[in-house]
Amino acid sequence: MRILGIETSCDETAIAIYDKQNGLLSNEIYSQAKLHSYYGGVVPELASRDHTCKIAPLILLSLKRANLYPNQINGIAYTAGPGLVGSLLVGVTVGRTLAFSWNIPAIPVNHMEGHIMSPMLESNSPKFPFLALLVSGGHTQLVIVNDVGSYKLLGESIDDSVGEAFDKTARLLGLNYPGGALLSQLAKKGKQKKFIFPRPMTGCDSLNFSFSGLKTFAANVIRNNYLDDQTRSDIARAFEDAVVDTLLIKCNHALDKTGFKRLVIAGGVSANYSLRNKMSIMIKKRKGEIFYSRPEFCTDNAAMIAYVGMLRIKSDISKELSIEVHPRWSLTELSSL
Ligand code: KG4
Ligand code: ZN
Repeated sequence: MRILGIETSCDETAIAIYDKQNGLLSNEIYSQAKLHSYYGGVVPELASRDHTCKIAPLILLSLKRANLYPNQINGIAYTAGPGLVGSLLVGVTVGRTLAFSWNIPAIPVNHMEGHIMSPMLESNSPKFPFLALLVSGGHTQLVIVNDVGSYKLLGESIDDSVGEAFDKTARLLGLNYPGGALLSQLAKKGKQKKFIFPRPMTGCDSLNFSFSGLKTFAANVIRNNYLDDQTRSDIARAFEDAVVDTLLIKCNHALDKTGFKRLVIAGGVSANYSLRNKMSIMIKKRKGEIFYSRPEFCTDNAAMIAYVGMLRIKSDISKELSIEVHPRWSLTELSSL
């Protein structure tokens, strides 16, 4: 069984082929970061136009790398949401059209379910059930994962996501979009506690998050200080420490509340070294287990979409020809297997 995965929810055009027996056969990613960096963030119209140009060549490349012909593919999984409507439409249209013409099933996949399952692509993968912290450019969520498709949302950001806060603060520090990883690089040279940022919403029982105030705090610190290289690094360090501490406190609280021993961190920000390191120490102290994937599977990719497609494929081929996207598709709306 081989599934071709398509991911176009935001600013990465990604195609992968996952084989049930042999794992990942190809994993192609084209990032539009350079295109959007001039504007300091994703421009939706440019994103969808660029997906249109890149998607077909990437599918051909993916088949070539995997040494496969289309008749050796058994299903097409595509991200149907959440994400930018125009970007999603490109992947959904191409995915459903190819599936129809190749006479194989088309499988709509929820992008966040893809992130949750991304550690399953690694040899050391978690068993169900577990607690998941999803930290991406669009979402910050704490979720109980009972099984594939069985999710309970414990908390989420009431304003900016963690990734957004990283990117906006990075921009204030003069870094290119997407600035999360660049800010983290800068923070490595920063002195600890040179600046102290707040740990928002950690004094209450709620498992919700709020990150927009941190960005405003950063803006004020940046405005009130002379920004030499060391000061920029110190601010980046203070910001990163505050974000990581906040996520740590919330996860600790959620683990206490639920009694789970296994924690998965997933989504683009889970590539952050400091977050992985401090979470690992915390989990070790609790005698639990932590799971995260290699950095290229933390950020947007089609391997996780193809993998979920393999879990969700049904043998019957839908004759349904409609093209449907779900820009705000919640995990809690998904059906279990
Ligand atoms: O999951 P993702 O690739 O896209 C969405 O689904 O939104 O996440 C992208 C986010 C961006 O905000 C990016 O700056 C952030 O993940 N990110 C990082 C790091 N790598 C990516 N943030 C902090 N540290 C990193 N190393
Ligand atoms: Zn994502």
